[in-house]
Amino acid sequence: MIAVRKASQSDRQAVWSVHVRAIRETCSRSYTPEQVIAWSRLLPPDSSIQVLQDREFLVAEKHGVIAGFGLLNQGSEEVEAVYVRPDHLRGGVGRAILEALERVAQQGGLDTLWLFATLNAVPFYLAAGYIVQHDTQHCLPNGMELPCVRMAKRLPSESRAAQPRQAPDRGKGAAAGNTYVVTSDR
Ligand SMILES: CC(C)(COP(=O)(O)OP(=O)(O)OC[C@H]1O[C@@H](n2cnc3c(N)ncnc32)[C@H](O)[C@@H]1OP(=O)(O)O)[C@@H](O)C(=O)NCCC(=O)NCCS
Repeated sequence: MIAVRKASQSDRQAVWSVHVRAIRETCSRSYTPEQVIAWSRLLPPDSSIQVLQDREFLVAEKHGVIAGFGLLNQGSEEVEAVYVRPDHLRGGVGRAILEALERVAQQGGLDTLWLFATLNAVPFYLAAGYIVQHDTQHCLPNGMELPCVRMAKRLPSESRAAQPRQAPDRGKGAAAGNTYVVTSDR
């Protein structure tokens, strides 16, 4: 079972670990070793503390383990991150996180989301209904540039989005306090 819930301060070490491992083990297929090193060094273990307070910050638990996380900036209407632990790829974790972020966005009154997709994540976002706007570069604080792709999606109306799509228990958690999506794993 995958459950997506709000992150708490006690999740930050696990979130940091997922972030660094995803960059080093998954994103490294699409970026140079120099880019991966510069990117992953930007993240001290306590780096998520401030972000936890400023953003919609969700984590996905699979069998009691933090298997991924996602970040939504409601103000800029941007999905800022979806990261999955490399040993949980292609198990539906990323999709569950993204659906939960979209649900939060809809509940906040947004009807469109955009994001900068890493090159390796473009097929994932295409599968989720995002369309490519244009190629671009994300500039790291040290000046190094990471090629990425700007993508966007018009969200379905909330009434349609609320319909269960797959697993019989999908959506049960939506009303249960901090849990947004509960779905079967594969
Ligand atoms: C992108 C990422 C979040 C996807 O997470 P995931 O849990 O593996 O994705 P899911 O299992 O939910 O995949 C959902 C669908 O997306 C598509 N998809 C996901 N990864 C894909 C890939 N590598 N190639 C092609 N399609 C892919 C598939 O259609 C998949 O459905 P299917 O498995 O039934 O075919 C994950 O690869 C990741 O963490 N990458 C590193 C971090 C990163 O780049 N994040 C994005 C920052 S913008």
